[in-house]
Amino acid sequence: MARNIISSLCLVLLILISGVSSVRFAWAQEEPQALAERAINLLSYIAVDYADAVAEREVRDPRLYRQLQRQADMAEELLQQLPDKPGRTQLAGALRDLNRSIEQRDSADNVRRRANAAADRLAALYQLPRSPAEMLPPAKEAEAIYTERCAHCHGPRGTPGNAKGSDLRNRERMARFSLYDLYNTLDPARDDAHGHAIDGDLSSRERWALAVLVAGFSAPAEMPEATLAEKYPALVGLPGIAVTRPSELPVDAAAALGWWRANPDYTRRLQHPIVRAAGLIQLAQTSYRAGDPTESYHQLMLALREGFAPARLGLEERNSALASRLDQQWLDLRRAILDEAPTNEVIEKFQRLQAGVLRAREVLQPAPERGPYGWAALLFALALALGGLLWKGLRRRSRR
Ligand code: HEC
Repeated sequence: MARNIISSLCLVLLILISGVSSVRFAWAQEEPQALAERAINLLSYIAVDYADAVAEREVRDPRLYRQLQRQADMAEELLQQLPDKPGRTQLAGALRDLNRSIEQRDSADNVRRRANAAADRLAALYQLPRSPAEMLPPAKEAEAIYTERCAHCHGPRGTPGNAKGSDLRNRERMARFSLYDLYNTLDPARDDAHGHAIDGDLSSRERWALAVLVAGFSAPAEMPEATLAEKYPALVGLPGIAVTRPSELPVDAAAALGWWRANPDYTRRLQHPIVRAAGLIQLAQTSYRAGDPTESYHQLMLALREGFAPARLGLEERNSALASRLDQQWLDLRRAILDEAPTNEVIEKFQRLQAGVLRAREVLQPAPERGPYGWAALLFALALALGGLLWKGLRRRSRR
């Protein structure tokens, strides 16, 4: 009798262990990038949905509240599955703080800020490319797919009616998602809400086009004034347009981004070529750090051809020394990538070139008044500097 109990206990234990370990195993097999994207997806839902679950320290929707708690736990666990790196411990601390905030029914603003900040740090730490390689596809590319695979749940133009999808026209809610967050909900392997509800595979380009289309459902009808593109240059180009959440911006910038991200074709024309060059160099650097020198080289050449070349003449007129110095820096960087120079050398050249291009941007479009334009430029520069610091920290650790 006792032996029977013991052996059946053992059996149960065995099943449990094998169950748990197969889950672990399935996770462990996923690429770090997939794990990080999944965690970011969970965090973006927490940021967006929390306001519906808790108001004035009261739980208004217990089912949603429990779901958010589970999602926060899962994000913590996913982080533990990711390879250790300098910075992971602090990030784990930030996720624990987020969990505690949710437990204490903290304000929606605090929870949203914590969740978004953790998602951004995670993306930086694991060097996720969070925007398409070159440009955003137009919404019309996705119209047929939307009708075929999405409309039966979300309604023909984003209003679900009696169907089971969420309301994609809710402007306040949709403004809490970046375009990348929307893109991220469209991969069945990353997104629990969709799971396998979306038929078949979607290519990365199709997902970006769908994100643009969906962003259009809640976009303001009116085109923003062109001067806003000068005021917020980082928001009309990649990666800013893809990774920024409108809800985190001043009112005029939020409305403008809401429209721009739904109309990327038009937005591209608003960009000064040198701003485009700066954005593309940043993308190239991200690809390089993510271990894809071929893509990186391609983006770098695009930055040269479509960004620097059209701006060079104007720069030559205003500051010819800077123009020649930049010529040399492009050359040096190209050669370093082609010759497979050591990573830290290449990164250093990237940073020198980026600094030069940012300087050229100042020379070419002096800010009319330092106010709000400086605000966006400052954010942009800060993000770049942070990336640089992070990288330096990594190198220092790995050399020890
Ligand atoms: C089986 C029904 C179903 C199908 C098919 C479906 N969705 Fe969804 N989708 C949902 C539900 C339910 C949610 C809400 C998840 C949540 O809020 O937790 C959602 C969430 C989203 C979100 C995130 C925004 C939000 O409100 O949460 C986006 C974006 C989205 N869907 C777009 C699409 C697109 C694009 C397609 C087609 C490729 C699609 N969905 C297909 C049911 C569906």
